[in-house]
Amino acid sequence: MASNSSESRASAEVPAPYGSGPAQPAPAAERKPAKVRIHHLQQAKRDGTRFAMLTAYEQYTAEIFDAAGIEVLLVGDSASNNVFGNETSLPVTVDELLPLCRAVARTAQRALVVADLPFGSYEVSAEQAVATGVRFLKEGLAHAVKIEGGAYYAPTVRAMVQAGVPVMAHIGFTPQSEHALGGYRVQGRGDDAQRLIDDAVALAGAGAFCVLMEMVPAETAAAVDAAVDVPTVGIGAGKETTGQVLVWQDMAGLRGGRMAKFVKQYADLRSTLLDAATQYGNDVRTGQFPGPEHSF
Ligand code: KIV
Repeated sequence: MASNSSESRASAEVPAPYGSGPAQPAPAAERKPAKVRIHHLQQAKRDGTRFAMLTAYEQYTAEIFDAAGIEVLLVGDSASNNVFGNETSLPVTVDELLPLCRAVARTAQRALVVADLPFGSYEVSAEQAVATGVRFLKEGLAHAVKIEGGAYYAPTVRAMVQAGVPVMAHIGFTPQSEHALGGYRVQGRGDDAQRLIDDAVALAGAGAFCVLMEMVPAETAAAVDAAVDVPTVGIGAGKETTGQVLVWQDMAGLRGGRMAKFVKQYADLRSTLLDAATQYGNDVRTGQFPGPEHSF
């Protein structure tokens, strides 16, 4: 996604000390990259360009993905089953996610940082959702939050947006509702497609800046994308959405076990780390590490 040039210029300028005249451009080495803003994602939808989103839960992956130009970093509630060792995304709490979010937001120089509101932290009322959203922006330093659910949550989204909390809506398969939905199942097939279109229209109408769709037939996702002005993001939703998202441990092959059909693995970090740890263990046991070059 091309970055907005006036934004680039603005962020390349260092504010001058009071009374010292016009701002001077910072030396190139000190310039921070222009931040990805919500309006850039909206521009991508208008221009027909695409952006990439990955989950991140700590500083090194945030730094690497940011440097790779990934436009949006999601501090997903998938931390539950990719960081905290739970089986599903349901048990993770606000207090567990907030420090992860803070680490990602402190590290990312350019990417837009979106945080998931975990299960149980927004469903009770619009007030609860506003309060939790504010915590993620204030304590987690997130730039926006994501909530799962359809048209029913439109009033909640409206209240959050009015309170100054930008919201990404997550529809289709919503992992927090895994038990209610009867497991990991594709949503929006056949006649059910209209339900997802209605969800997206209601949530975008309430002020959601983006609609994320998970495990939705490509044709349905394309119809949803065409029905709303806001950008869309897909995970297992075909290629007609404005953006794509993957859980980074799936994308980079860190997680073992069966992968969902929608995952493409771009690396095999699991084997790389297994080899490294095995060699290290062997070196320690055989006295080959540390060598003289590692000793004082
Ligand atoms: O938490 C997460 O990783 C997500 C993605 C599956 C979109 O919500």
